[in-house]
Amino acid sequence: MLDDLIANNRAWAEAKCQADPGFFSRLEGQQSPAYLWIGCSDSRVPANEIVGLDPGELFVHRNVANLAPPQDANYLSVLQYAVEVLKVRHVLVVGHYGCGGVQAALDGARLGLIDHWLHPIREIAETHRHELAALADVRARRDRLCELNVMRQVRNVASDIFVRDAWARGQALSVHGWVYALSDGLVRDLGVTLSSVAEYEGRR
Ligand code: CO
Repeated sequence: MLDDLIANNRAWAEAKCQADPGFFSRLEGQQSPAYLWIGCSDSRVPANEIVGLDPGELFVHRNVANLAPPQDANYLSVLQYAVEVLKVRHVLVVGHYGCGGVQAALDGARLGLIDHWLHPIREIAETHRHELAALADVRARRDRLCELNVMRQVRNVASDIFVRDAWARGQALSVHGWVYALSDGLVRDLGVTLSSVAEYEGRR
């Protein structure tokens, strides 16, 4: 099986070189992505492919259920590097309908360590329990919670010190909330973009 992957890799590198002989040497020199993608680890949500970007064009952080937890050193390191060194213009928080992590938080099933990781989503479900309870079925509740989770993570990113300091410096930076649908391959913009401290305060 792994031989297939190596063969695929060789074919991919060859095709890239044929289309653009300077491709790898240019990337080796530097990366200058304009976007940071914060998405779910789900194998059905391949970041670059969905938005048609090449290597070097998208800085990517993925974890289960696309969280931006304010105490997570991994996420914070990625965010700081993206904002302060790469100076990305857009942070895309991308959830997806049918997310297993969101479903697990809603089920209350016991899965182990992941239950702790998903704690913030259980809190979001608790906060919005009346809205969720009014929805028709389990699937509708799960998909709405996917959206609410993205909105919450957008606010987490926008309230982070690195982002607020960037805005204070006058750096152009927007944080967006999207949800990807596995059913049709399309991304929905949730319309919760924040591009300044004033917008963040205004949306509270
Ligand atoms: Co997911």
